[in-house]
Amino acid sequence: MSADREQFGSRLGFILAAAGSAVGIGNLVGFPVAAAKNGGGAFLLIYALFVVFICLPVMMAEISIGRHTQQAPMQAFNKLSDGHKGWTAAGFLALLTPFMIAVFYTVITIWLFGYLFETLSGNLSQLADPSYFGSFINSNSIFGYLIAVKAIVYFILFSGVKDGIEKGAKIMMPALFVMLIMLVIFVLTLDNAFAGVTYYIVPDFSKIDAGVINTALSQAFFSLSLGMGIMITYGSYMRRDDDLPGSAKFVAFTDTAVAFCAGLLIMPAIFSFNPEINTAELSDSSVGLIFTFLPKIFLALQVSIGYFGASAVAAIFFLLVFFAAITSLVSITEVPNSAIMGAMNYSRRKSLSILAVSVLFFSILCIYSFGRADALTNFLNYGGVDKSFFDVIIDVFYDTVLPLNGLLSCLLVIFHWKRSNFHSELERGSPAYRGSFLERYVDLSLTTFIPIILSVIFINTVAYKYFGVSFIG
Ligand code: TRP
Repeated sequence: MSADREQFGSRLGFILAAAGSAVGIGNLVGFPVAAAKNGGGAFLLIYALFVVFICLPVMMAEISIGRHTQQAPMQAFNKLSDGHKGWTAAGFLALLTPFMIAVFYTVITIWLFGYLFETLSGNLSQLADPSYFGSFINSNSIFGYLIAVKAIVYFILFSGVKDGIEKGAKIMMPALFVMLIMLVIFVLTLDNAFAGVTYYIVPDFSKIDAGVINTALSQAFFSLSLGMGIMITYGSYMRRDDDLPGSAKFVAFTDTAVAFCAGLLIMPAIFSFNPEINTAELSDSSVGLIFTFLPKIFLALQVSIGYFGASAVAAIFFLLVFFAAITSLVSITEVPNSAIMGAMNYSRRKSLSILAVSVLFFSILCIYSFGRADALTNFLNYGGVDKSFFDVIIDVFYDTVLPLNGLLSCLLVIFHWKRSNFHSELERGSPAYRGSFLERYVDLSLTTFIPIILSVIFINTVAYKYFGVSFIG
């Protein structure tokens, strides 16, 4: 354990950085649409219950693994399991997963930056053209945006935990909250906004089935940055005597509140654009929504507030999503970075340079997988669908492996670390946690039904995605 491990400067710093990691594109677009399609308020309720009763204990487990071991996930798994072979493999997965997520998230962040840039250049009307996105992702300007995004992310990371990650979150997160609230207030003044709010909030329990429950739980789990090693890594930078359970609750609450507010932005906007909309037709993919559907809605605002006004609203929106993406990208890149620093004893600068080059290489492969290079565009075929290199990374590392990683954290706590040690880590800095209801609940749930539920999600996803077999929904 190195005495000079970098640390967040304050409890708030940890909370904002962790919430910044958790709040991403999924919260701002994926969540509202999933809720609207799947029973509105009924979905919101189930989602909130999953956050509290299933995800929060996992988050507490991950943060405490990090804080206790003072290591990145790869080394933390090794340390807690005393170098047991199976856990070395798990540790490797905990390095590869965030690396691959960093690769594809870089690509999406580049697109966001490009859309922000184009909007600010007065090109909103082009963005609203349905064929624009396809040509945009294959245009050469992508490489310019790639360099800009990488410069921002690595500038933050080079500056370190306190002066980079924490400071970045302290600037971007409050700005994100303000922009979100401003946009919510604005869209609520639009015609038919209320129809959207009603659709989003009024519960329709008849839509709830096993498939919807699975969606809600997966969405909650992914949204909170679980299974990615981020909470372990950020936990390792948390001050030893800060209140860990309280901070975890705050992060979970912030992430959920942002997702909820995003619904109050997206749904009224969609309904004011088309009051007759059939939400079943809305794309399931956040990418499709952000880059092809929403620009049309923003452009339609020109009737009431003019082209300049419409562009301003669109620019604020893209900046909001861009900030959300940057803080997530920073967090996911810091995981392999801290693993490399720990394993090789490299300086932050050296380790980040290696990462910058390797993430760049794979990001370019992704960029070439939308038609530029055939081998990457039609990379694999499974579940009856052709998949690009980019799709495969998302399928494997984002949609499949995260519940498995979460499960591994639970198993590590149960079998190696031992529950009493786990609870004493949680009690440091939070005397009220000892003997509390939450402590008893976390203990019971993590050792019984949470590992079972995570296994079921994992098995179901593998069966469905790769073999076309569906057990649930
Ligand atoms: N909540 C994020 C999203 O909505 C998911 C996420 C959490 C994420 N942590 C991340 C994505 C880190 C990329 C990197 O998109």
